[in-house]
This record gives sequence, C-alpha cells and structure tokens, in this order.
Amino acid sequence: MNNKIPNHVGIIVDGNGRWATNRGLSRSKGHEAGFINLQKLTAYMYEKGVHYVSAYLFSTENFKRSETEVNFIMNLLTGKLKEILEFCHQTKIHAFFSGRKDKLSKKVLEAMNTIEEETRKYTDRQFNICFNYGGRAEIIDATKKILYDVENKTLEINNIDEELYNKYLYNNLPSLDLLIRTSGEKRISNFMLWQCSYAEFYFIDTLFPDFKAKDFDKALEEYQNRDRRFGGIDYDKKNH
Ligand code: IPE
Ligand code: IPE
Ligand code: MG
Repeated sequence: MNNKIPNHVGIIVDGNGRWATNRGLSRSKGHEAGFINLQKLTAYMYEKGVHYVSAYLFSTENFKRSETEVNFIMNLLTGKLKEILEFCHQTKIHAFFSGRKDKLSKKVLEAMNTIEEETRKYTDRQFNICFNYGGRAEIIDATKKILYDVENKTLEINNIDEELYNKYLYNNLPSLDLLIRTSGEKRISNFMLWQCSYAEFYFIDTLFPDFKAKDFDKALEEYQNRDRRFGGIDYDKKNH
C-alpha cells in the first residue's frame, strides 16, 4: 500500500437510467441525479489532491437513444449553465470538453464555449468533460490533423512520437491513472482508448447517482494497493 494520489482519474458515469427505473422514475430523473452527484464527487476528488478528472457524459454512440433522452441530456448543459459556472468558480475548476462538435446544436456549443472561456483561469484543477466523445473518433481526428500537417509540410513523419501524437488529441492530457466505471458493466465503451493504456481499472456495481465520496475512498484504497509496473520489474520487492 502506498499513499499516492492519482494525477488523472477517469469516470465512466453509468447507471443513471437504471437508478431512475428502480425508483419508478423517468430516465431523465436519473440523469438529473447523476448531474448533481457528479459535482459533489468531482469536488471531493480535487480535495483529495487529484488534478485531472475526465468524465464520460455522452458518447458518440449515445445518439442511438431516443430523441427525448438525447434532448434532455443536451438541455442539462444549456439549462444548467449558470449552476455549472457557479460550481466551477466555487471549486476553482477549469472545465473543458473532448468530443466531436458536429451534431451538437449552436446553443450547446455556445454553452461549452462559455464554460471553457470563463474557467480558463483556474490551472490547478482540470475537468475534462467527454461529450459526444468516442475514443476511436478521437484517434481518427488526431490522425487526420497529423496527415494534414504532413501534407502541408509543417510536420515531418519522423517527428511523430507518442508525445507529439498526444498533442493532436482533443486535449493534451496526461495518461489516466485510475479509471472508474459504475453500474457493474465491465467494459470501456470507447472511452479514452489512447489515454488508458496503463490505467488501473476499477469496476463497481453501484449505480452512478449512488457513488459517493466514501465509495471513491474505497477506489482510492484499492488503487493504492495495486502494483503499477508499466512493464518493468521492481527488483527490491521480495517476490522478485
Ligand atoms: C450513463 O447512464 C449516462 C449516459 C450514458 C448518458 P445510462 O443512461 O447509460 O444509464 P443505464 O446504463 O441505462 O442505467
Ligand atoms: C458509456 O455508457 C457512455 C457514457 C457513460 C457516456 P453506455 O451506457 O452508453 O455504454 P454501454 O452501451 O453500456 O456500453
Ligand atoms: Mg449505461
């Protein structure tokens, strides 16, 4: 066990719908509860010393859902803009977005822009909101930008390495250290495929609106008990 705090925590916010259905409520109520919980949870993570949080809130594939549900999630961003800004200012968070901008309405894009611009001054706590996000889409979009620069001779093929590739992604973020998925599903569902190459995965049955600070503490404890080797070997350890 060590007491290391992960620099970058990813959270696949899952189970909002089931949380609501279990209570005889509409799925929208689940998204509302998830939205409230996300604020409390992220504030707690930053308090613990985490610098980067990436939250998966809407995938490129989530457009397959009903128009009512999609619109409700979109409207959370625009309708609760004031609340989101208040939360960011209070907690001193720079919030920004990862994902494709197409398919998003002008109103949603404006809200995103306002959030990014108004919170840019906070540098210690970074909140990456994955919205209309897909891990494969991110890699394809980065590759296109790289090819464009190669074609325009502003980039040389031989200069492409992992560090450079990272800069072409939606945001130049550090690798994920801890990835949490709530709701019992044990899959990535296209989340930050590039960034999670050496992340520690933590899957928990709890539905997202019920995942609280004490649950994060448990995830943290497990993380601190993991032996992160990154392909190497710690020769000082007894069993080596
Ligand atoms: C996560 O909750 C939020 C989004 C994917 C938008 P879900 O809406 O996936 O909830 P379940 O998995 O159906 O319970
Ligand atoms: C993943 O959840 C996407 C987000 C949390 C935004 P889903 O509920 O869409 O994933 P699947 O369909 O169970 O894989
Ligand atoms: Mg789900």
